[in-house]
Amino acid sequence: MASGLDDVIAAETALSDVDGLAGKLIVRGHSLDELAGRSSFEEIVGLLFDGLIEPPSPRQLADARMAVFDRFAGRLDRFAGLPVFDAVRAAIALLRDDTSAECAAVLLAAPAVIVPALVRVARGERPVAPSGQDHASDVLTMLQGRRPSPAEAAALETYLVAVADHGLNASTFTARVVASTQAGLTSSVLAALGALKGPLHGGAPGPVLDMLDAVGTPQRAEAVLRAMLARGERLMGFGHRIYRVRDPRADALKAALLTLPPSPRMELALAVEAAALKLLREKKPDRPLETNVEFFTALLLDALGFPREAFTAVFAIGRTAGWIAHAREQALSGRLIRPKSRYVGPLPREAA
Ligand code: ACO
Repeated sequence: MASGLDDVIAAETALSDVDGLAGKLIVRGHSLDELAGRSSFEEIVGLLFDGLIEPPSPRQLADARMAVFDRFAGRLDRFAGLPVFDAVRAAIALLRDDTSAECAAVLLAAPAVIVPALVRVARGERPVAPSGQDHASDVLTMLQGRRPSPAEAAALETYLVAVADHGLNASTFTARVVASTQAGLTSSVLAALGALKGPLHGGAPGPVLDMLDAVGTPQRAEAVLRAMLARGERLMGFGHRIYRVRDPRADALKAALLTLPPSPRMELALAVEAAALKLLREKKPDRPLETNVEFFTALLLDALGFPREAFTAVFAIGRTAGWIAHAREQALSGRLIRPKSRYVGPLPREAA
């Protein structure tokens, strides 16, 4: 069997394609370069949902955010003590579970509303209601309690667009497996959230900041990373199962980051990136290990005011669009996904 299902084709999709050798991401016929920094999150939802499920209009999505806020904002104490990601997952588990366009709109709205509200409550602040702006601006307003600058709103929009869909990654595959049983969209999204949470997938950006903190100053970068590798640790934000060159999303996010006010952390991050790439080339000369999306995600979300413990949940704000589209594509066109395993355990005594 192919360990990790490497090179196994498990679905046909018209949604997105990752060309790991060329470092290209195509979403419904558009390259990431065409979309990131140019399209709104609402437009990407329209692109992904086209022909699969009715996309919410910007007004309907804004109404869904308001409905989620009304339902949850005053009752977040029930999730007290849970990490942000687990609280978001617990809240989403309470939503209706079917394959309607209304269900899809609420699923898109839920993390966008609940993440900023949870962050504020954890800071001892009151949740701020959405105000009917575009999705990205509303998220930042709900987080910061003020309207974002155009650069901040554009940076979050670029992020949400860049991560909205990405081929058959672990969480999207999970969503498709669940959808193949004809379960509802909420079930697919919940399962996908579980897959996203792990540090080898969407859980990497928080540890990226931990790594930067451990390095401390640009001068220490090489020594600290060398010691991490010597201990057998992975450098978070580097390497990818599919990309053999730099993840194109990393560049899209870096470009967005450079439009925000400069931070001392950026200088440190660039030194860490350079040292990491050098050391990974030394360690694995035959296996290109390049910067992935999570490295600059960490810096971007930090610069926008999200705490590191919320980073993976912010990823879900964008990726829910892809999960829903894949779940519908699978349910409409696919069979029940039911692969086989090869049994390598002991045989019953009589058969041995
Ligand atoms: N740091 C150190 N060594 C690494 C790294 C890394 N970041 N990435 C891969 N390697 C090593 C592996 O340990 C492996 O070594 P071995 O053969 O001696 O055991 C070798 O390189 C080959 O690894 P791959 O086959 O490329 O790794 P795989 O495809 O299994 O994993 C993954 C890809 C999980 C992303 C890995 O590169 C990693 O753990 N990176 C750090 C975590 C991270 O950044 N995750 C976010 C990914 S992007 C996303 O999901 C949104």
